Amino acid sequence: MDRERTGQLLPRLEKTLPSQHYFDPDHHRRELHAIWYRSWLCVGRVEEVAQSRDYKVVEVGDQGILVTRDLEGRLHAFHNTCRHRGSLLCSGSQGRFRGGSIVCPYHGWTYSLAGEWLGARHQLPAAGFRKSDHSLHAVAVGEWAGSIFVNLLGPDAPPLHSVLGEIPARFANWRLEALPAFKTGPLSTKPAVPDQPLTTAELQALDKAAEKVTQQAAANYWDDALAKVDIGDVRADMLSWEQAQQMGLMKKDKPA
Ligand code: FES
Repeated sequence: MDRERTGQLLPRLEKTLPSQHYFDPDHHRRELHAIWYRSWLCVGRVEEVAQSRDYKVVEVGDQGILVTRDLEGRLHAFHNTCRHRGSLLCSGSQGRFRGGSIVCPYHGWTYSLAGEWLGARHQLPAAGFRKSDHSLHAVAVGEWAGSIFVNLLGPDAPPLHSVLGEIPARFANWRLEALPAFKTGPLSTKPAVPDQPLTTAELQALDKAAEKVTQQAAANYWDDALAKVDIGDVRADMLSWEQAQQMGLMKKDKPA
């Protein structure tokens, strides 16, 4: 591989996204509704809710999602909001429902770990009240290779396996389900919204900076790739920088 061939593979640098795509609140809102609220999202590993009664709370945009494992060991996911007055059900991020049910801290409406309405601590249901109308709002949940996925479309979500397509077969040898979670963190869909709108000059400066980073990354990538090219029986990555430059492999100034 030489510089000429490199040029054929990478004829020009592609432009980066306009900088406002990263922090414009309107663009963020459109992105949430077009992508995050209608796609299958990986929200953690199964060992985080390994036992019956375990739960985990994740945030997707401005939606709180409660993932539970019921008494039969099945996974469920719901909006983390009570059907009575909309109170937050779980304020923690992870834990275990020791009583085996979800109790709203406000007026005590109680739900099974599968989201069904079970009762209310201090109230009798009014006439005509139907339990089945007051289950928690369900979010679709699925599992693949030891990871938990949710889709906020709920019952309208396409099956997870149809979205994964050929991925499980292609990754079968990797035994992803056997990998233990080392560290997990919150899913973040928050935009980097500045306190004040940026001026045109600031936006142009950001675009320029992003372009420079991309160019430098591309240059580093190709220099790394060229440094591993075999030259006869000598590998380029065994040469000194001066030798590599003499052979025309390193066109850049010597790094400091
Ligand atoms: S808001 Fe949950 S029981 Fe009233």
